[in-house]
Amino acid sequence: MIHFLLLSVSIATLCVRAHDHVAERPDRTGCFDYFLQKDGCVYGSADAPCKEKTGKTSTSCNAFRIDPASEAAQKQTVLQAAPENHGRLARRYDTTIPTLAVAGGNGICGFYNSTTTSGVCLWSGEGWVDSRHEPISGWLNGTRVGNCNKHVYIQRQGQPETVQYAPVLDGCGFNTVTPDVGCFQVWMTIDLFDKFNPTPEQRRKFQIDDTFTWDFVGGEGGNPV
Ligand SMILES: *[C@@H]1O[C@H](CO)[C@@H](O)[C@H](O)[C@H]1NC(C)=O
Ligand SMILES: *[C@@H]1O[C@H](CO)[C@@H](O)[C@H](O)[C@H]1NC(C)=O
Repeated sequence: MIHFLLLSVSIATLCVRAHDHVAERPDRTGCFDYFLQKDGCVYGSADAPCKEKTGKTSTSCNAFRIDPASEAAQKQTVLQAAPENHGRLARRYDTTIPTLAVAGGNGICGFYNSTTTSGVCLWSGEGWVDSRHEPISGWLNGTRVGNCNKHVYIQRQGQPETVQYAPVLDGCGFNTVTPDVGCFQVWMTIDLFDKFNPTPEQRRKFQIDDTFTWDFVGGEGGNPV
């Protein structure tokens, strides 16, 4: 029990840097606040931009829960220690669950045709389901639509040559209630899915299990809120 408590405290220290000097805005989303708390900045944002030269990667707090001796943890350490040398498209948010193609239709940002339009679906957060979960808006939800149509870049992890740019067209639940999972994920339209050259098996399942790296473009492409 004592060990468990100590572990919880150290995770909390790593993942929550409680400072927030950035003015509250009514359209601010749950994921914006999550990264502001965790990293002290939000990539691509106008209000709380991250300093490009720090080369800091935002990592899901889940990553801190893995065995430090594991291969994944060692890889993580190497990545965090590596100097910034990838220019603007440095590694940002890495998906931790499989990436699926979405059906399209009437989404949070309006109608879109998944087979003819490239776009992404970001976390829609979680409504108030029971007393354990406060509502969180994710990157967008039915009432917080400020990130609709903002542009993201997305690439297969470590393969900058696969980069694509696409607007945010919808919100997805990703079957998760926690920002530590939801804020990092991205699903995509079939049109965008096909641009990543899925194997016949991936195309049949409309699912790619490999990690994708993505972030808001910022600036002209739209600063995330
Ligand atoms: C999407 O576009 C395709 C190709 O133009 C068309 O066949 C399909 O009916 C459209 N789907 C919807 C829901 O409008
Ligand atoms: C969107 O998230 C906010 C909390 O950030 C919540 O108050 C609101 O009810 C949510 N809207 C929907 C439609 O879930």
